[in-house]
Amino acid sequence: MQVPSRDELAQSGTLEDLYGKLGRIGIAPGWAKSTPSLWPAPRRHFAPAHWKYEQARGALDAAGRLINTELAERRNLILFNPASTNSYGTVRTMVAAYQMIMPGEWARSHRHTPNALRLILDSEAGTYTEVDGVKIAMEPGDVLLTPNWSSHGHGNDSRANAYWLDFLDVPLVQLLEPMFFEPAEEAGEAHASNSTPPTKESPFVFPLSQTLKRLDAAAPTPTGYFGTSVELGNPAMDTIGLHMMRLVPKGKTAPYRTTANNLYAAVKGSGATTVDGERFEWRRGDVIAAPAWLPHFHEASGDALLLRVTDEPVMQRLGFHRVAGETPAAH
Ligand SMILES: [Fe+2]
Repeated sequence: MQVPSRDELAQSGTLEDLYGKLGRIGIAPGWAKSTPSLWPAPRRHFAPAHWKYEQARGALDAAGRLINTELAERRNLILFNPASTNSYGTVRTMVAAYQMIMPGEWARSHRHTPNALRLILDSEAGTYTEVDGVKIAMEPGDVLLTPNWSSHGHGNDSRANAYWLDFLDVPLVQLLEPMFFEPAEEAGEAHASNSTPPTKESPFVFPLSQTLKRLDAAAPTPTGYFGTSVELGNPAMDTIGLHMMRLVPKGKTAPYRTTANNLYAAVKGSGATTVDGERFEWRRGDVIAAPAWLPHFHEASGDALLLRVTDEPVMQRLGFHRVAGETPAAH
């Protein structure tokens, strides 16, 4: 196909003539786009959604019989958002997954640029994550971090299956492109067992016992956006903020609408979260997705704890964080 010269472009007699020539050199007229590039407010892409631990646990128990940690880098179940255009993420920037390891198993060590964290759901003493060579004990309600490029593997020296929720910023890293992944050991390679007992003395863990003490000391704000809430870390990771929320029986939080994406995981109790008019009744271990700009609020049937996992740090750092009803900060 002949490339039009400057003179040939300059002498275009009609818009159609010009469009035809531009099409041959990879340029499009901005005034004649079929879809707009800008719109007045965030569009709804990802859907409100709810995933149940009870179902995931059944599926993981089957997976425990059907696949082992030699074959699977991780035995996990990805919570993909049901939006029609989506095939992976739980919300635009983050993905969540349920994971299980069985007694005696070792989920081999690796590292990657995506930031990851896990919320422990059920485990017994002897279950741990090894982060950069340090074994960190995993107990129910604990939150463990494995930030960008930290090596991590998971071990279970207890007698019970261990279950947890993973949250990662993989969709964001895929979008921005800086993806790197490196195995620390090959499949089938014997794991050099570290005989030291697991510890909680690490900047990579927020033990539930400490988080509860901080919640007890916090001024109660049951009808705020997040009930009574404390932040884990400041923020916990560059791209993901973590907040433990305490909800009171029959309490209802103020409706919240933000440009940030929020995932809520039930750490304790039961209740309901309404996202853009859809009401989801949750129990311990369940996950609710409140994608960007969809208004949502929470109610609890009894004392309840929710872990809020949010891309707020990304939105704040880039100047894109807005909350409906609040004046946006000028940049
Ligand atoms: Fe990982």
